[in-house]
Amino acid sequence: MELCKNIRTFCDDTETPFYIYSETEIENRVTALKDCFREPAYTLLYAMKANSNPQIIKALAASGFGVDACSVEEIRIAALSGVPPENIYYNSDCLTADEIEMAIRAGVNITVGSLDALCMVTGKHPGIGISLRVNSGVGAGHSAKVITNGELSKFGILLSELEEAKAICKTASVVIEGLHSHTGSGEMEVTNYIENARIMAELAKSFSSLKFINFGGGFGYDYVTHCSYDISAIHVALNELRETYDLDLATRFIIEPGRYVVAGAGMLISRVCSVKHTSSRNFIGLDTGHNHFPRCFYYDAWHDIENMSAGQQKKMVYDIAGNLCQSGDIFARQRTLPETEVGDLICIKDTGAYGFSMSSNFNSRVRPAEYLLKKNGEIKVIRRAENFDDIISTCVLD
Ligand code: LLP
Repeated sequence: MELCKNIRTFCDDTETPFYIYSETEIENRVTALKDCFREPAYTLLYAMKANSNPQIIKALAASGFGVDACSVEEIRIAALSGVPPENIYYNSDCLTADEIEMAIRAGVNITVGSLDALCMVTGKHPGIGISLRVNSGVGAGHSAKVITNGELSKFGILLSELEEAKAICKTASVVIEGLHSHTGSGEMEVTNYIENARIMAELAKSFSSLKFINFGGGFGYDYVTHCSYDISAIHVALNELRETYDLDLATRFIIEPGRYVVAGAGMLISRVCSVKHTSSRNFIGLDTGHNHFPRCFYYDAWHDIENMSAGQQKKMVYDIAGNLCQSGDIFARQRTLPETEVGDLICIKDTGAYGFSMSSNFNSRVRPAEYLLKKNGEIKVIRRAENFDDIISTCVLD
C-alpha cells in the first residue's frame, strides 16, 4: 500500500501504534484470484488465520469466498461475519472432542489430519462426511517453521496411513468427501505446490466419493521485490491435472490462500520514541514491538520500513527496535533511512498478513487498533485498541 496524503494526515492525528489496511488492495487481490480461477469447478477460500478481522472476512464473503478456519473461534468469527456454514472449512491440528462437537453442531466442513482425530470423529458421528488432510511428503515454505508437509511436519495423515484411514471410515460408514494437502506458506516458486497437487490428483482416483480436492494455500508474497506470485501457473497446472487424471468437473478444486490476499494491503504505523547511538550502531526505538508484529522476530522476515515524517535530509544506517523487554525485539538491522528524530512516524509495510492475527499481550502491553482505508477514501476503525481493563479483566485479583 502506498502512502497517500489522506493516510499521512490521518496518521499524524491518530494515536500510534495502529494497523491500517487498504480495501482497494484487498479487492485487487480478490479480483486477480477470481479472474484467474474463474471456472465454476473452483472454490476459493480465504485462510483467515492471515487476518481474521470480521470486516475483512465480510468483504471476502461478499465476493464469494469461503474460509479456511483453523479453530472453533475462527469458525465463530466467520459465522458472525456472514459466512454460511457450508462455506466454512474447518481444518485444525490436534482436535479435541469438544472442538469436534462444536464444529459438527456449527454444520461446517470438517477436515481431519490424524488417525486419532479420525477415530474420535467416526466413533461419535458415524455416517457423516469429512475430508482427510494428507501429508504428501512435498513441503515448502519461506522458513522451516511454516513447512507443513514432509517427514518433519506434524500435519496430515501420511500416504502410508491412508488405507487405514479408509478402513476406519468404512467401518463407521463415514464418507470421505474431500482430500486436503497444504505444502506450507510463502514460497515464491510454484514447483512444489504443483507437485503436491499432482500427488493429490493422482490419489483422488482411488477414492470413489470425493466432492473436492483442496490443494491448500501458501501463495507467496515477495516482501523485497513485491513481485507477484504466479497464480496463473498454478491455474494452468491444476487444469492440466484435471485432464491428466481424468477428474470430472463434479470434483471441485479448492485453493485457500491467506497471505496473497492481505499481506500487501496492510501497514503498521508507529512513532519513534528514542534515537540512540552506540559505538557501532544507530538505534531507532519505536512505540511498538514484536508483540504487535512478530514476523521479523519469528522468521527474520524482511519488511520495508519508511520514515513518513522525514524530508530530504541526509541518510543514515539504523537498527530499528521495538519497545519490548527482549533484545531480539528488532524489526530490521542496518537499514538506510533519512536521519530520524523522536516523534517521527514510521511505517512498517506489507503487514496485512500474520500481523495482528499473531499479536499478543507480551510485556502486558495492549494490542493496537485496526483501521480500514475504504475505496472512497474514508478511514474506518475496524477494531479499537485494547485498554488495560481488557487485560486485567480475566485475572483473579483476590
Ligand atoms: N491452509 C492451511 C492449512 C494453512 O496451514 C495455511 C497457513 C494456509 C492455508 C494459508 O497459507 P498462506 O496462503 O497464508 O501462506 N505465520 C507465518 C505463516 C503461517 C502459515 C500457517 N498456515 C508467517 O507469518 O509467514
